[in-house]
Amino acid sequence: MKDYFEKANKSRDDDRYNYWQKHRQIATSAILEASQKSAASNSIIILGAGNCDDIDINTLASVFSRIVLVDIAEISLNKAYHSFFKSTQDKVMLRGNVNLLPIDTSDFYLKLKELLEERASVEDILNLVNYTRISMKHSILQDLKGKFDIVVSSAIYTQLFEARLNEILNSYSNFYDSTQKNKILDELQGFGYELIDQYNNLLTFLTKEHGVIVSWSDVAHIHELSTSQASGPPKHLPVDKLFPSATHGISGLMSNLEPNTVVMKYWQWPFNHIISYYVVLLYGISHNGNRQI
Ligand SMILES: C[S@@+](CC[C@H](N)C(=O)[O-])C[C@H]1O[C@@H](n2cnc3c(N)ncnc32)[C@H](O)[C@@H]1O
Repeated sequence: MKDYFEKANKSRDDDRYNYWQKHRQIATSAILEASQKSAASNSIIILGAGNCDDIDINTLASVFSRIVLVDIAEISLNKAYHSFFKSTQDKVMLRGNVNLLPIDTSDFYLKLKELLEERASVEDILNLVNYTRISMKHSILQDLKGKFDIVVSSAIYTQLFEARLNEILNSYSNFYDSTQKNKILDELQGFGYELIDQYNNLLTFLTKEHGVIVSWSDVAHIHELSTSQASGPPKHLPVDKLFPSATHGISGLMSNLEPNTVVMKYWQWPFNHIISYYVVLLYGISHNGNRQI
């Protein structure tokens, strides 16, 4: 897992920080706006901080006195840290090498590959899913329970399971006929949704009482760049099919937030010179009823 994300983060274009300037500015402003809804704005944690290309940490340091950055990709975090102002560094704590899901520390992906390699039956694959469900250990960031005024999730939903799964399934796609493939995909997608629900509960778990959760995600490819700034729901834009894990994550998070405090924002994220994503950001006051994970 760690190598997979270190590699992905390292392969970023050299000019990405500059290229993401507008995206970073919108995301950072949204966090600052969201923080005004919180009872206090002292502490903030960012999950999936990675290279910190999409949030201006120096700007956040002018508001927050404690900033915790979390990612599996430790090298990316360290590199970003060295680019911060010294006064910012004094407020930042890094949590690298953190797996954000219990499944990351299981041998699920390895076992799945082995099964696909052996052309195992669909039932065998479903058994692996069921076995993983009951054997996963829940112990992520336990020491940080309820510690943050603001909890931020940075473009994580599509990364948690979907990206990894698609990569694995694509390598073995010739081994199964379309009926079998659909059955495997259906079950694995349902499992992926459960993992995203667990992740959303982790966001709640980390939030102080009356604290705010901010989560954004790429939700679709934009197939023709619109010259105007995206500001409305996806149906008004030239987008392809929405990413299932992202829509599940965003809509699921709503039920962890106080309904009358929820705000949504939309924009275009030119990811590189070829790909552009449509982004949805959601924030609101966490209701901490489901703190247990
Ligand atoms: C799309 S990137 C977000 C961009 C990132 N904020 C930046 O500016 O580079 C998602 C980040 O989440 C991290 N990530 C994805 N899945 C993870 C997991 N299961 N556990 C920990 N980190 C994860 C990746 O390493 C990556 O840095």
